[in-house]
Amino acid sequence: MLTALDALAEEASGCTRCALSGSRTQVVFGSGAPNADLMFVGEGPGAEEDRQGLPFVGRSGQLLDRLLSQELGLDRSACYITNVVKCRPPENRDPKPDEIAACRPFLENQLESVDPKVVVTLGNFASKLLLDTDVGITRLRGQSYEFSGRHLVPTFHPAAALRGGGDVLACMRSDLVRAKRLMGG
Ligand code: URA
Repeated sequence: MLTALDALAEEASGCTRCALSGSRTQVVFGSGAPNADLMFVGEGPGAEEDRQGLPFVGRSGQLLDRLLSQELGLDRSACYITNVVKCRPPENRDPKPDEIAACRPFLENQLESVDPKVVVTLGNFASKLLLDTDVGITRLRGQSYEFSGRHLVPTFHPAAALRGGGDVLACMRSDLVRAKRLMGG
């Protein structure tokens, strides 16, 4: 049976709402358990994601998989993973405000459909968008926020940990432990 999420993915696969549709290989809608308690929201697909059509399958994704396993004892298939924009920005540039706005209804519908208990936002774009703030991730992280009846846990983007090393990684670990507690685990 076609779920609401499947129908949304189908709709997104042909989306031309913004200029990113002109340069993508394919739409990277999201993946994982359709009713997951834990949902991750990243920034936007990179080259490997654009090639495979799946979120977080490059180096950042490998780190995310490792942290998920080590801190939550979970496989990615038990979570739902998506991004603020579903198409790769050329040369991995930042997504533009009009691209984020055009893609936002997909994210809102994913949140409603998956209905997770805890949302972990990875990096500045997802955290600022969902918390509706200009405050950066370094100041936002370290606590959880009420988010439409859910918990939102902002943390660094795994790419920042790959660049920034041990301190960033330690923060991500503690944020994921916070997410686990909020899931009741
Ligand atoms: N970075 C992101 O923000 N999302 C991905 O899917 C991959 C890398």
